[in-house]
Amino acid sequence: MEPMTSTTLPGARSAAGGGRPGPLRRTLRDTIAPKVRQVADAAVTPLSIDDVLDHFHPLRGGSELRGRVVQVTPETPRSATVLIKPGRGWHGHVPGQFVRLGVDVDGVRLWRSYSLTHGPRPDGLISITVKMVPGGAVSTHLVRRVKPGTLVHLAPAEGDFVLPQPMPRKLLLVTAGSGITPVIGMLRNLFHKAEAPDVDIVLIHSALARAEVIFGREIRGYAEAGLLRLVELHTDTRGRLDVDELDQLVPDLAERPTYACGPVGLLDSLEEHHAARGLELFVERFRPVLLAEPGEGGTVTFAATGTDVEVAGDTAILDAAEDAGVLMPSGCRMGICMSCVLPLKEGTVRDLRNGELTHAVPGETHPDGVMVQTCITSAAGPCTFSH
Ligand SMILES: Cc1cc2nc3c(=O)[nH]c(=O)nc-3n(C[C@H](O)[C@H](O)[C@H](O)COP(=O)(O)OP(=O)(O)OC[C@H]3O[C@@H](n4cnc5c(N)ncnc54)[C@H](O)[C@@H]3O)c2cc1C
Ligand code: FES
Repeated sequence: MEPMTSTTLPGARSAAGGGRPGPLRRTLRDTIAPKVRQVADAAVTPLSIDDVLDHFHPLRGGSELRGRVVQVTPETPRSATVLIKPGRGWHGHVPGQFVRLGVDVDGVRLWRSYSLTHGPRPDGLISITVKMVPGGAVSTHLVRRVKPGTLVHLAPAEGDFVLPQPMPRKLLLVTAGSGITPVIGMLRNLFHKAEAPDVDIVLIHSALARAEVIFGREIRGYAEAGLLRLVELHTDTRGRLDVDELDQLVPDLAERPTYACGPVGLLDSLEEHHAARGLELFVERFRPVLLAEPGEGGTVTFAATGTDVEVAGDTAILDAAEDAGVLMPSGCRMGICMSCVLPLKEGTVRDLRNGELTHAVPGETHPDGVMVQTCITSAAGPCTFSH
């Protein structure tokens, strides 16, 4: 069964007036449009015409990709689904992918990634389901404070945690806590048709207790309808899933490619277990794998604002800078998307995943600085960013 993109591409509709603009129309438009824009910008100075259009029509095509929160629905005491109407630049997604979302929290724009939790939706809306982490700036904001009508910033869907085509005959899904989110999107996509998919699915899902199971009623419903076999584990009473239990829980384990999403400990032990047995495993991680021993840290200077931030050797520069109130670009916060890259002008930084050092030496390295992913890098001594 084909994975479906959830929304059609608005830009694919033909422009007003129909058909493609001919070379003459394009030339006239290219000549006139900048002049019209200049006049419009002058009329609304000190704003630009985009600011004015954004005010009245923030989801219009051509503007920065944004979305408007339509509904916030509690799922469990600590999680909620946020339904969003994306702007015209939204190009859809494949179930299993995630969206980077920017929200303004106490006047600071913070970006985080969230898996898309829906399958095909004729209304073109998108949804994410967020579980609060203790002290979490964005998760707490989205679960507790965000209201319908709020504008959020979006980036196009990304990620390769998607089901293969053609679909395998058998599948094992292993999830825990909020790790159910990319998987529920896949299941909703598979089960939206009246005809059951020709794939034998086992879902092993762990959560603290029955009341903490995100989408509990829905996945139990799938099991009752015979669409999958559900192994629901409550860790408060029986402890965490031990990967050595897998053979007993899933006797035909070797015949099932495994898709897993959950806490670091679960994913690490699954990777070890499956690698030792030569079994196929695909994982989605919400947090980066940090393998390196922490270094000594250092003082990071942000030259543009003249701010000095003390960064401990086990802390990402991005986290330390945000905690100190520095406005930082960010996205996935785990070394995937490159949104957090900043030029290091001078000094040495350390990759928290492998301990690798990167140096910037004025006069020796690139005059614009050496590009550094601040979300997975710590300071190794004093260093300076031009940011
Ligand atoms: C590809 C991808 C998909 C994701 N999908 C989802 C999703 O569908 N639903 C969802 O709820 N989250 C998801 N996340 C996690 C999400 O992006 C945020 O990391 C999470 O909401 C915490 O952000 P925060 O601002 O609340 O916490 P922060 O303010 O950044 O951190 C607060 C504290 O919590 C710790 N922390 C940060 N993230 C986590 C975490 N995930 N688990 C435990 N402790 C953490 C930090 O180290 C810090 O100590 C996803 C992450 C990635 C990379
Ligand atoms: S925030 Fe995505 S790579 Fe750093």
